[in-house]
Amino acid sequence: MVDHTRESEFGFHPSACPAEERLTALIACKDMEKENKMYDEWAVYYDEDMKALGFQGYGVMGKRIAELIGNKNAKILDIGCGTGLFGVELHSLGYNNIHAADGNPNILEKSRERGVYTELKQFMLGSNLIAPYEDGAFDAVVAIAVLGPGQWITLQCRR
Ligand SMILES: C[S@@+](CC[C@H](N)C(=O)[O-])C[C@H]1O[C@@H](n2cnc3c(N)ncnc32)[C@H](O)[C@@H]1O
Repeated sequence: MVDHTRESEFGFHPSACPAEERLTALIACKDMEKENKMYDEWAVYYDEDMKALGFQGYGVMGKRIAELIGNKNAKILDIGCGTGLFGVELHSLGYNNIHAADGNPNILEKSRERGVYTELKQFMLGSNLIAPYEDGAFDAVVAIAVLGPGQWITLQCRR
């Protein structure tokens, strides 16, 4: 459980920290365990931060998925789903077989609360872990803001 009333170990007070500062701290982080703890904290502010940062990715990706996948029953995996903002976008477009995965249990819980995902799984995708799904299990797999700078999986790929 994260104590949101004290200074965080990343050098900012989480409840007073603006979105950009949180994002910068995450990008600078090079340690998986720390990054995961950071997401524990960020789970609380993530949605408002994305709004504050003007992130347009959900709409853009939703539009692209709609162009590529006409079947609304298509099985779609949202990997690194975070708080489920893209699940909400897909659901609003009529998709009804959306699956979620994330390495962080606290942030995954936020996704669960959305009620738009058929199934949610917690696991950390990385160099020595095969994702716990059968080959060809999904019609589409999306990962928004998961393979970018500062993300643990990106650091692994560089090794
Ligand atoms: C910047 S957030 C993006 C969340 C969501 N896709 C969105 O766009 O709102 C990155 C998410 O990916 C998850 N994540 C990062 N590396 C991961 C990994 N190797 N395996 C599973 N989840 C990972 C984090 O826990 C976090 O929830």
